Amino acid sequence: MFSILVVNPKGGAGKTTIATNLAGYLAGKRQRVVIKDMDRQRSSARWLARRPRGFPEIRGALPDTDSKIVADYAPHWLIIDAPAGVHDKALADLVREADAILVPVATSAFDFEATADFLGELAGHKPVKDGKRPIAVVGSRVDSRTVAASDLDTFLEPLSIDVVTHIRDSQLYVHAARDGLTIFDQPRSRAQEAWEDWPPLFEWLQSVVAQKNTHSR
Ligand SMILES: Nc1ncnc2c1ncn2[C@@H]1O[C@H](COP(=O)(O)OP(=O)(O)OP(=O)(O)O)[C@@H](O)[C@H]1O
Ligand SMILES: [Mg+2]
Repeated sequence: MFSILVVNPKGGAGKTTIATNLAGYLAGKRQRVVIKDMDRQRSSARWLARRPRGFPEIRGALPDTDSKIVADYAPHWLIIDAPAGVHDKALADLVREADAILVPVATSAFDFEATADFLGELAGHKPVKDGKRPIAVVGSRVDSRTVAASDLDTFLEPLSIDVVTHIRDSQLYVHAARDGLTIFDQPRSRAQEAWEDWPPLFEWLQSVVAQKNTHSR
């Protein structure tokens, strides 16, 4: 099992959107996926409850779900949707549970500043310091017509952290969220452009999974 923590203490950064869409993509590739909703607002659990029959199966877990239930399902992927405001010990616990960390960042100066602070905090956690928790930053709700997209790259440059991809601002995500779906459950004719934002993230994931497998041999 490979665990991906989707985290940014800044509210509305795009955590649940990235977590649910990633889950949907992997499930569509016939992978067993569990999405663990750590947020009291239960956004991803409620999204899952709205998911119609006939779409690739994703299972849900909550913080108090018996870990045996998850283990018995033997998922390939555990995606952890973190709440806003997570810091200190709660963050340390989540970091420990993860194999890799995705940090979505919305493109406003407030989001950049808060996220830079957060990346600094993350860097202080031992598993991150030891290089055992690869981190990818993902631009979220990016409007490529504005300067915000390149602003994000420039902002993160001094931290030596790459932005793996920019997920565009699209109503497809809003409609999919409403319907318990992902953009990967939509027909190509409607969603192809939005799909194009994701391959760099999948490639990054592939590389970190390969790294983990090499180290555990
Ligand atoms: N790429 C996108 N295009 C359009 N709308 C988006 C996109 N990503 C997220 N949104 C919308 O932005 C809002 C916040 O996104 P989301 O709920 O994923 O953030 P979050 O980080 O999980 O928030 P919270 O901190 O409250 O858990 C939602 O209304 C969501 O539908
Ligand atoms: Mg959320």
